[in-house]
Amino acid sequence: MPGQLLDGNLLSRKIRAEIAARAAIVTAKGVRPGLAVIVLGDNPASQVYVRNKVKACEDVGFHSVLERYSAELGEEELLARIATLNADPSIHGILVQLPLPAHIASERVLEAIAPQKDVDGFHIANAGALMVGHPEFKPCTPYGCMKMLESIEYPVRGARAVIVGASNIVGKPMAMLLLQAGATVTICNSKTRDLAHHTKDADILVVATGKPKMISGDMIKNGAVVIDVGINRLPDGKLCGDVDFDTAKYIAGWITPVPGGVGPMTITMLLMNTLEAAEKAVKP
Ligand code: GUN
Repeated sequence: MPGQLLDGNLLSRKIRAEIAARAAIVTAKGVRPGLAVIVLGDNPASQVYVRNKVKACEDVGFHSVLERYSAELGEEELLARIATLNADPSIHGILVQLPLPAHIASERVLEAIAPQKDVDGFHIANAGALMVGHPEFKPCTPYGCMKMLESIEYPVRGARAVIVGASNIVGKPMAMLLLQAGATVTICNSKTRDLAHHTKDADILVVATGKPKMISGDMIKNGAVVIDVGINRLPDGKLCGDVDFDTAKYIAGWITPVPGGVGPMTITMLLMNTLEAAEKAVKP
């Protein structure tokens, strides 16, 4: 494989060791970082993600609370839980796992989380702060992708970056972070004409579409950094990304695997945001 692997597990281990050390320092000052995770319903993927998030908290010495509710929980009850967690001094980060059931207005729920506890960075105040260049919390997946670029000392300034997928969770905040780092950014969406024309021009290609293996090797520029945010389960039970790894690995200069690429980095940056929220709560 000519392309080098961008290993999210390896980088996560390094960053999580630093997080654990900093968590021990704030804990000694009487503020143990605390994360509350709320999940509604029994979507198997969401259940796995929230369990991984809570386990990661335990591993770095955080306090964590996992609240699981039925898919029928009412919006007002959910808002009341969030209000209680907003007022709880042992909780520094609150995360409501998405997607929420259809009867709940997700934006109302996200706006109910106190911005200073919004470790996902999804509150409109944090999205706005990111847009103008001084975010309180960077959304975890794009933040993790930037850390991966940093880990290989990739010269983002002046590079051509193409993002496939324009979601609020990944595509749009990713564009803002790359733009602020000096890249020339294109965001493609499901209506983009001649997608390959754009992707072949990318020095940095970030793919977050939820469509298994949609980007093949012939759509990639030689030597590009390819960051695959997708995680899809195939009918045979295997996991795959939005990039066709088997053809892309021969063309890319660097490529993230699925699993073991962006996934662990998302959780690592969630821990980092929670740690930083706790550090801000330490009285001088
Ligand atoms: N669902 C998929 N990704 C995410 C994420 O990063 N945060 C939350 N809260 N829900 C998600």
